[in-house]
Amino acid sequence: MTPRPIRIGVLGAGPIAQAAHLDAIRKACNAELYALCDAAADLLERVAAIHRPTTCYTSFDALLADPMVDAVVIATADAFHVPLARRALAAGKHVLVEKPLGMTIEECEALQSWLGDRRLVVQVGHNRRFDPGFSEAQRFVRHELGAVLAVKAWYHDSAFRYTMTDNLQPSLVTSEDRLQPPQPPKADRPRYLLRTHGSHLVDTVRFLAGDIVRVHARLRVGGGSHCWFIAVEFADGAPGHLDLIIPVQGDFEEGFQIFGDRGSVVGRLPLVWHHRASHVECFRAADRTYHRLLGEDGHTWRRQIEGFAATIGAGAAQHGATLHDGIATMRVLVAIAESAARGCAVDPAQMHGSLEAIPLPG
Ligand SMILES: NC(=O)c1ccc[n+]([C@@H]2O[C@H](COP(=O)([O-])OP(=O)(O)OC[C@H]3O[C@@H](n4cnc5c(N)ncnc54)[C@H](O)[C@@H]3O)[C@@H](O)[C@H]2O)c1
Repeated sequence: MTPRPIRIGVLGAGPIAQAAHLDAIRKACNAELYALCDAAADLLERVAAIHRPTTCYTSFDALLADPMVDAVVIATADAFHVPLARRALAAGKHVLVEKPLGMTIEECEALQSWLGDRRLVVQVGHNRRFDPGFSEAQRFVRHELGAVLAVKAWYHDSAFRYTMTDNLQPSLVTSEDRLQPPQPPKADRPRYLLRTHGSHLVDTVRFLAGDIVRVHARLRVGGGSHCWFIAVEFADGAPGHLDLIIPVQGDFEEGFQIFGDRGSVVGRLPLVWHHRASHVECFRAADRTYHRLLGEDGHTWRRQIEGFAATIGAGAAQHGATLHDGIATMRVLVAIAESAARGCAVDPAQMHGSLEAIPLPG
């Protein structure tokens, strides 16, 4: 028997819901856009008129009280993620929470302890994991590349990116009444950039090459850009280098290169709003051939929803980022800031608190 679609309630009708989640859920083969909730009634009405959920709520409690809702996508400001995820889980709903998981390491760990062995799925919205090229690269690293010798990864946001994204995304609507944290998320620029873009970079390398156990970062601020140059070490001893530059006076670039003793892999993800699979080439030394995917489905947001729903409905193994992954990424982000501020190497496992506690140049 085909399992019924997972009925999803989306919390937040803001930009990411409009540009990604709502359309992704409508297109997903195993999910249904059942409910939409936003405290801003005018925004809710306008967005619901486009995406036509079965029902709408201005109160999150009302959405959670609806027994038809199986799962909730939390698409709100970062500061609200953990408290809202906890309320949803307490109401028995599965949760897909946007990245980064939260603001402080402690609040995320408290959520994990509280969740214990409750049989609910929590997935963090690191959508790159659902790019077929990234999945293929991970498979190749695990099974064919041999011992990992070194890793490079980069995320360069373009100064001209918004011209491109404006063309690719639907026209977004907003409201004066939307709920925002007391401190507007983008006001604190270095921390905002590290949290919002750095979380993708760090999750990508963890997904491909495993846990990061040492971080030595430098931050250069100038010409309107923040340049983070980060030396890392992976749990298996491999050294790595990550660079996060926002913005660059050049094109958007997101990618990685991994060198092993039996092969290597290079990947480049186009600006994600193109919904095009990344260009990944795996080289196998044994037969001296490159292997490259073509024509794969690169709608990472729709595939992310399908992966979430498959984990809930069919008990599929979780391909998306878990709570553990979300916390590990936050630890590395705090370690990057701490290392840049102190000018020495630090161990992510020793980190606590949040980016807010660390002095960073503007
Ligand atoms: N995966 C990605 O590549 C990607 C890209 C962009 C943004 N994001 C993430 O998406 C998240 C949301 O970003 P955004 O720009 O859409 O946020 P936003 O704050 O502009 O919009 C969130 C909406 O949620 C509503 N809301 C918040 N709390 C509510 C509550 N308790 N009850 C009812 N409504 C509530 C607000 O009224 C607002 O309309 C952020 O965490 C951001 O980091 C991810």
